[in-house]
Amino acid sequence: MSVPKSQYLSPVWRDNIFANRVVFVTGGAGSICSAQTRALVHLGADACIIGRSVEKTEQAAKEIAQVRSGSRVIGIGGVDVRSFDSLKSAADRCARELGAIDFVIAGAAGNFVAPISGLSPNAFKSVIDIDTIGTFNTIKATVPHLVESARRNPNPNEAGTTGGRILSVSATFHYTGMPLQAHVSAAKAAVDSLMASVALEYGPFGVTANCVVPGYIGETEGMARLASSKIDMQTTGKGIPSGRVGSVRDIADATVYLFSDAGNFVNGASLVVDGAGWRRQGAL
Ligand code: HXC
Repeated sequence: MSVPKSQYLSPVWRDNIFANRVVFVTGGAGSICSAQTRALVHLGADACIIGRSVEKTEQAAKEIAQVRSGSRVIGIGGVDVRSFDSLKSAADRCARELGAIDFVIAGAAGNFVAPISGLSPNAFKSVIDIDTIGTFNTIKATVPHLVESARRNPNPNEAGTTGGRILSVSATFHYTGMPLQAHVSAAKAAVDSLMASVALEYGPFGVTANCVVPGYIGETEGMARLASSKIDMQTTGKGIPSGRVGSVRDIADATVYLFSDAGNFVNGASLVVDGAGWRRQGAL
C-alpha cells in the first residue's frame, strides 16, 4: 500500500540528509514507527525493522522500501524484544547486511486498557517486560554498533549527519499518572530514566540518547485500543491546547530533527510532541 509522502513527512526537509546511514527499528511495522522509518528512508537512510510477526514485519519492510528507489530495507520477524539473544542476532545481521547501525529507534511497546483491579501481576509484568526490559535489550544489543558508527563518523557527513543516535518512544502518562494505564505509565517512566543514564554513559562516545514522546496520535494501534474504551477522537482533540490530536507525521518530523545535524547537541532529552495535551491531561 503506497502512503502519500505528506502523511509521513513535512516538505521542509532536504533529500539525502541521511544518505549512507542505517536505522534499526523495533516495532517497525507499527503505525508510528513505520512512519518514522518511512521518513528516514525517504531522506536517504537504509533500514532494518524488527517485529514479532514474520508476515507483518516483512510486508511492512516491502512497503517502506517503496518510498525511495534504491533503498535497502530489511524486515526481521520472529524477534521479541523480551529476548536479548534474538535482538542481538537481529542487530548483528543488520550490521552485516547493511554495513552498520547508525540510528536506533526503540519503538516496540505493549498496551491494553485495564484498571489496577483488572491487572494480574503477570499483565503488569508483561508491559514492563516489553517496554522497559525491551528497550534495555535493544540498547544493549545495538550500542556497540552505535559507538562504532560514532567513531567512524565523528563529524557530520556531506549531507550533515553524524552517527550514533538512540531514540526511545515514550509517553506522557507518568507525568501525571493515568487511570487504566498504570502499567504503561510505570514502564515508560523507567524508559525515560534509562535513557537519561544512557545519555550520560554514551555521550562521551559520541552517541546521543533521547525520547520522543507522542501524545494522542490519530490512526494508531495505541489510539485504537484507547478509543475502544470509549475515548472519542474529536472530543479529545478539542481538549488539546493545539486543537487537534497528533498525526504520525508529527512524530516522524520530530525524529528527523533529532537524527539530523540540527539535533546534534540534543542529548538526554524528552521531546514531547502532543500539542501541550499532557498539561491538561487530567482535564481531558
Ligand atoms: C487485562 C490483560 C489484557 C487486558 C492481556 N492481559 N490483555 N489483562 N486486560 N486487556 C494479560 C493477560 O491476561 C496475561 O496475564 C498478560 O496480560 C500477558 O498476556 P499475553 O497475551 O499472554 O501476553 P503477550 O502475548 O506477550 O501480549 C502482550 C500484550 C499484548 C501487551 C498483552 O497486548 C501485545 O502483544 N501488545 C503488543 C502490541 C501493542 O500493544 N501495541 C500497542 C502499543 S501502543 P495472565 O495473568 O492472564 O497471565 C502504545 C502506546 C501507548 O504502547 C500510549 C497511547 C497514547
